[in-house]
Formats: sequence, C-alpha cells, structure tokens
Amino acid sequence: MPITLKSPRQIELLREAGRLVRETFDLLREHIRPGVTTAEIDSIAETFIRSRGADPIYKGYVPPGRRNTRNIPPFPGTICASVNDVICHGIPSKKERLRQGDIIGVDIGLRLNGWIGDACETFPVGEVDDATQHLLVTAKRCLDLGIEQAHVGKTLGDIGAAIQRYAEGLGFSVVREYTGHGVGRNLHEDPTVLHYGEPGTGRKILAGMVFTIEPMINAGGAETKLERDDWTVRTADGRRSAQFEHSLAITEDGPILLTV
Ligand code: CO
Repeated sequence: MPITLKSPRQIELLREAGRLVRETFDLLREHIRPGVTTAEIDSIAETFIRSRGADPIYKGYVPPGRRNTRNIPPFPGTICASVNDVICHGIPSKKERLRQGDIIGVDIGLRLNGWIGDACETFPVGEVDDATQHLLVTAKRCLDLGIEQAHVGKTLGDIGAAIQRYAEGLGFSVVREYTGHGVGRNLHEDPTVLHYGEPGTGRKILAGMVFTIEPMINAGGAETKLERDDWTVRTADGRRSAQFEHSLAITEDGPILLTV
C-alpha cells in the first residue's frame, strides 16, 4: 500500500487529537492506584474523551477483512489495559483490581475531528520492585531511541535496530508480532514499523510520514500467547512486559511528537 504523506495542516489536526490523548493520560494518572479496577479506569477515560467531542476508536474495533478469519469479537473497551505479564490488548474488567507493585500499560486511541491520536504508557501502581522499575525505564528508553532515528534520510530499519540493540543489550527482549503503524484518518495505515531489524534496511523515512513507535519490551523471552478471549496477549513465560508509544510526524526539521 502507498503511504499517504500528510500536509502541515493535517499534521496540526493530528496534533490536536494527540494532545487530547495526552490530557486523557494526565487524568488517568491520578486514578491509577491500588484498589481501582481496570473497568473503572476505562470508564473515566471514555467519559472524558466523549466529553471533549472525540470518539474512542478501540471500542467496538474489529480486525478488518482477512485479518479476522477467526471472527474475533469487537474490542469492548475504550482503553487497552495490560497488567503485568499482559503485553497488549488487555480488556478492562470489573474483576481486575490493581494491586500495589503491579504495572499497567494503558493504550489510548481516539478520533477527534476525523483524525487519530494513539499512544501508550505503562504506569507503576504504587511502589514497584527494582526489576520492574528497570523494565519500565528500559521500555521508555527504547521508545526514545526509536524516535531519535526518526529523521528524513534514515530508514525504518534504523528505528527497529536501535530499539532491539538497546533492549537485548540489557537482557530484555522485543515482541515481534505487534508493530508500530501509520496513523492518519485511519488507525492503521502504512507503513508498518518494526521494533527490531537491521540498520539501513526498510523504507526510507520521508517528510510528511506520520506513524507510531510502540515497542513492547519483555523482562524474559519475546514469545507471546493469545488468550481465549482472542484479544489479551501475554508473555509466554509469564514474566512482565512494558510498552510506551508515541505518534509522530516527520518533518524536514525532525520528528514532531504528536502525543505529548
Ligand atoms: Co498504536
């Protein structure tokens, strides 16, 4: 598929959607503490997003066409709430109460005035142990290192390589099955952005590209397993996973972070 390059005006509209994603995180941060359920966090997010005239886009999302040969049911949440060993796509639940020492990855996708904002952040619940803190810091650093490569003249492989080299150098692993993606009027556009790879390979990065970088970093092995609900993705070895994501727009002067 061709990549649709965005104009400065379109990038400004994407920035407005991204800003609302950030405001939602700022609101949720106050509520993420021991005792709260992931359904409660989801409900706070949905109410806020709708109050600002935007729509949650994960809610009711069905993988399109050929990707849904197994009749995967619509995603029921506004946010993905991915606790501890859940890598991504965790379903918010009234039965899931956060405990001291947990981590929760919150992924927010919304549409504002026709344009998508998409980001993810992993929060500690109260105090976490040192190993978990190291995982969080490493996952965040992986995102930052990927963003550092997101310049005209580099390639998408440079992004993946920087992330993989850093994560694996510290004994962590990078999930392969889920990737970054172009964003625009649609949640998933081209290009696909891998979080691993070889420098200098893949598509050249061009001004006007808008995409996410969203590495999922595992404390143990990279292998994943899908739960029977067809959404929740866990680490195969049961160890923890953390994810940070921004949407960014490429300009001749460097990347603009849309979701800060
Ligand atoms: Co995304």
